[in-house]
Amino acid sequence: MRNRTKLLLLAAIALVGAACLMFREPNGIMAADAPEHTESGAQAAMVLFPASDKTNRGAVGMKPVVFNHKVHEGKVQDCESCHHTGDPVPCTSCHTVEGKAEGNFVNLERAMHATNIAPRKGQRTPESCVSCHAKVYAQRVECAGCHNIVKPSRSDQWCAVCHTDIPTMTKEQLVAGISGKLDHEENIALAQAALAAKKPVDYLDPKRMKYKVVIDSLKDKYEANVFNHARHIVSLKRQIKGDALADAFHSTPEVFCQTCHHNSPASQTPSKCISCHTPNIDKKHPGRPPLKAAYHLQCMGCHDGMNVKRPRKTDCTACHKLRTAQQEESK
Ligand code: HEC
Ligand code: HEC
Ligand code: HEC
Ligand code: HEC
Ligand code: HEC
Ligand code: HEC
Ligand code: HEC
Ligand code: HEC
Ligand code: HEC
Repeated sequence: MRNRTKLLLLAAIALVGAACLMFREPNGIMAADAPEHTESGAQAAMVLFPASDKTNRGAVGMKPVVFNHKVHEGKVQDCESCHHTGDPVPCTSCHTVEGKAEGNFVNLERAMHATNIAPRKGQRTPESCVSCHAKVYAQRVECAGCHNIVKPSRSDQWCAVCHTDIPTMTKEQLVAGISGKLDHEENIALAQAALAAKKPVDYLDPKRMKYKVVIDSLKDKYEANVFNHARHIVSLKRQIKGDALADAFHSTPEVFCQTCHHNSPASQTPSKCISCHTPNIDKKHPGRPPLKAAYHLQCMGCHDGMNVKRPRKTDCTACHKLRTAQQEESK
């Protein structure tokens, strides 16, 4: 309770400060445009260094992380979602590379990436960067369709979204940052420079790919399925246009393709599903669904996640024409 009041007070003081700034500003620049601090009093963006209790750790380990506090405050209502102890102090005062008593020996790596955090009883459950992002895409309907059928590979490219290049940083600054001695203003300047250098990914243009795909690997009872390939991609792209989290992490042009054309390297000419999913259960890969199930699970997995109303799963004829019906028609 006391902590919550403290946070509210902090936010209120910052708001008053911001209002004063607004009145003082002659050319109408709003406080929100001032790049360095947000309404909460936190820096708008900051570099998070791998703080270590060892004084001579030097510049080994991962690149530091640039964290955009302002973007997060805009979307996450509650400070305590992240500042789980109620105090908006650096995480590194309790979580270091080695871990220490104040943080119950939860080390920095775990505090930032853990996805298997047990819910706490009677107190706030802490979130890591990664656990919260996974919650966001599982809960939002625009994201949940694809993410229902995607298992994130969490490759080096994924690490690099957070552990990013900071073009203007010197080795001395890095060493100072790790030992907690980097000047506050210098830290902000580095973060601003890194954010300014980021470019959004250029997704593959759906107009350049096959508009419709005829799926006819199985056609025993039904006519071949005519799948609106490009329309699907246009529609999925439209749904998440401008989303900051998706834009940051969908970092390859082929990311959409990999949603359906999975388990193989990104490609503009992916192999057909039948090259890995055999028509009958594959004894060598018993966990892999056979071809018909593979199609159905993928189509419905996404439609369910996104609440697509049409076609419903049970509406077989939305996707299939019965051979006999077709033959009747042509008479
Ligand atoms: C969502 C953002 C995010 C992603 C993605 C991410 N990290 Fe981190 N990681 C952090 C933050 C924040 C810290 C703490 C600040 C720091 O160490 O610079 C951190 C710290 C670490 C640390 C402890 C510090 C050190 O240098 O020893 C390691 C190790 C690490 N990350 C490895 C990885 C690896 C490997 C990947 C990819 C498989 C990865 N991280 C992906 C945010 C992320
Ligand atoms: C999405 C997570 C998240 C949310 C939400 C969030 N913060 Fe933060 N905040 C952080 C992280 C991460 C840091 C950097 C901690 C570090 O340096 O180790 C930080 C740093 C700060 C700092 C600077 C601490 C220092 O001494 O350097 C302040 C002040 C702060 N936050 C206040 C707030 C307030 C007030 C709110 C609510 C309006 C808030 N934060 C919401 C994650 C968050
Ligand atoms: C005042 C000390 C303190 C600060 C500051 C702090 N933590 Fe923690 N954190 C702890 C303690 C203590 C625990 C273990 C508590 C528990 O088990 O419920 C913990 C646990 C966690 C866990 C759960 C790990 C797990 O395996 O269950 C995560 C995630 C976490 N912290 C992230 C953060 C992040 C991110 C920040 C900064 C925004 C932060 N913490 C700031 C003390 C702190
Ligand atoms: C409580 C939930 C939550 C936590 C914890 C969290 N994030 Fe985020 N993150 C979000 C949301 C929501 C967005 C999207 C913001 C938007 O749409 O404007 C986001 C966006 C981002 C982005 C893309 C926007 C940008 O900055 O360019 C990055 C990168 C990111 N987060 C990194 C981190 C790192 C690093 C941490 C840990 C220090 C972290 N996040 C912790 C919820 C969270
Ligand atoms: C067209 C399908 C599709 C949609 C829609 C989609 N994603 Fe993704 N997303 C992917 C794929 C594919 C990956 C990469 C998985 C991998 O690493 O192999 C991914 C990866 C991610 C990651 C990094 C993985 C992780 O666990 O940290 C984040 C974060 C993310 N998406 C957020 C979002 C958000 C937020 C939305 C909704 C606004 C969204 N995505 C909508 C297909 C999609
Ligand atoms: C969202 C679209 C969709 C819906 C709805 C759907 N299917 Fe399919 N189904 C497919 C696709 C795609 C294939 C693979 C097409 C092919 O190779 O002929 C397929 C293949 C099949 C096949 C094997 C092909 C054949 O000719 O023998 C059968 C049988 C089948 N579906 C039955 C059904 C039944 C029964 C329903 C209703 C309960 C249904 N499907 C609903 C998309 C769908
Ligand atoms: C919503 C799921 C989905 C997405 C997203 C998707 N595809 Fe496809 N694509 C399919 C299916 C299903 C097939 C049919 C596969 C088969 O016949 O086994 C296919 C077939 C193809 C084919 C083969 C056409 C043929 O007739 O041989 C190419 C090439 C292709 N896709 C390229 C792409 C590219 C490039 C992207 C990304 C821009 C992409 N696809 C995104 C589902 C998708
Ligand atoms: C390069 C090989 C390959 C291709 C091509 C491929 N898959 Fe898969 N698929 C796999 C593997 C590997 C698994 C994981 C199952 C396992 O453990 O063996 C899998 C699993 C699945 C699953 C179960 C859910 C999951 O993700 O684990 C579905 C559904 C599926 N595939 C559908 C498809 C569809 C539809 C296509 C064509 C658009 C396709 N696959 C193309 C290799 C492939
Ligand atoms: C990654 C998500 C996703 C996957 C996978 C997916 N769909 Fe869809 N599908 C959608 C969305 C979103 C809509 C509604 C958007 C629209 O109408 O443009 C839709 C609509 C449709 C429709 C009605 C509109 C139309 O295009 O005629 C059909 C039919 C359809 N899907 C068939 C399929 C088949 C067949 C498959 C599997 C081969 C499939 N879908 C896989 C997301 C998906």
